[in-house]
Amino acid sequence: MELNVLPLTQPKPRPTDETKLIFGRDFTDRMFVMEFDRDKGWHSARIQSYQPFTLDPAALVLHYAQEIFEGLKAFRRPDGRIALFRPADNMTRFNRSARRMCMPEVDENFLLHAIKELVRLDADWVPHSEGTSLYIRPTMIATEPVLGVKPADQYLCYVILSPVAAYYKGGVAPVKIWISDKYVRAAAGGTGEAKTGGNYAASLYASTEAAERGFDQVLWLDAEQRRYVEEVGSMNICFLYDGKVVTSPLKGTILDGITRRSVLTLIRELGLEIEERALSVDEIIEGAATGRLKEAFGTGTAAVVSPVGQFTYRDQTVTVGDGNTGELTMKLYQTLTGIQYGKIADRHNWVDVL
Ligand code: COI
Repeated sequence: MELNVLPLTQPKPRPTDETKLIFGRDFTDRMFVMEFDRDKGWHSARIQSYQPFTLDPAALVLHYAQEIFEGLKAFRRPDGRIALFRPADNMTRFNRSARRMCMPEVDENFLLHAIKELVRLDADWVPHSEGTSLYIRPTMIATEPVLGVKPADQYLCYVILSPVAAYYKGGVAPVKIWISDKYVRAAAGGTGEAKTGGNYAASLYASTEAAERGFDQVLWLDAEQRRYVEEVGSMNICFLYDGKVVTSPLKGTILDGITRRSVLTLIRELGLEIEERALSVDEIIEGAATGRLKEAFGTGTAAVVSPVGQFTYRDQTVTVGDGNTGELTMKLYQTLTGIQYGKIADRHNWVDVL
């Protein structure tokens, strides 16, 4: 398929202070778009000015949420060049989500090529300051205008870019997490593993309640027993427990995080043992009290490696370690971001320099 680059109609004003960017608020000059229908397949691939879409009010995505997305980042390196982090993994996961949501797969190489072209064209939007990056959001929506509940025959795939600073207001500062035993995110056999908007919409009720009580995020427990850790709002989660790193297994209900995958590799290289098993909420409470739980951290593209300072379960709040960022968490944050920003050698071929 050919990729058409259309002229830019109107460049936007640049954000004034790139260290104060709010996650996902500003968008660059351009976007990528391609369309699908059953007869033609994917077609009309183009890079055009960032602009609103016209959607039929009956478009299936607006009624039954047939939608998927991805999140990856472009980083500014010390020599000024720009690098993507494991972008091919995001393309593969995009297609896995597409299959789960009965949406058409994309040509992974083509979409990655289009993303690289887009980032090259909007390269001056990739921020330079420490901790900043360009967040890339590939998305697919069902556009067919019909109210029958069925997989759509028409789709739009698009990619938008947003210069970002740290995801959490406090930067790399320990977050406070509320453990929910009332609401669940995903049950076995559901769509928990797919990166689909509905999973996030369903999480809002609990996260709003958590925010009202002063928490940063919700930790979800398994749907059946409400006892075992699954994941946190926008991150996978790891615990340093009894000297081993414990993290929930990929069994269909949690996101197969690319940052999770990368961090587990780095942990193995540090010589630490990893147990992919679901830690119980009792182990968190008891482990924090006895010192068996030394550190906890979330991993995610947006959140990077994010220390957890406190967990609250029912009416009990426990502090992890001394409440500050742990040594392992900091080491992983520094190593991962060092590789991403081109300051530490990339021995795994994770970095794709444009
Ligand atoms: C990401 O880390 O890229 C995510 O998709 C989380 C997002 C919902 C903010």
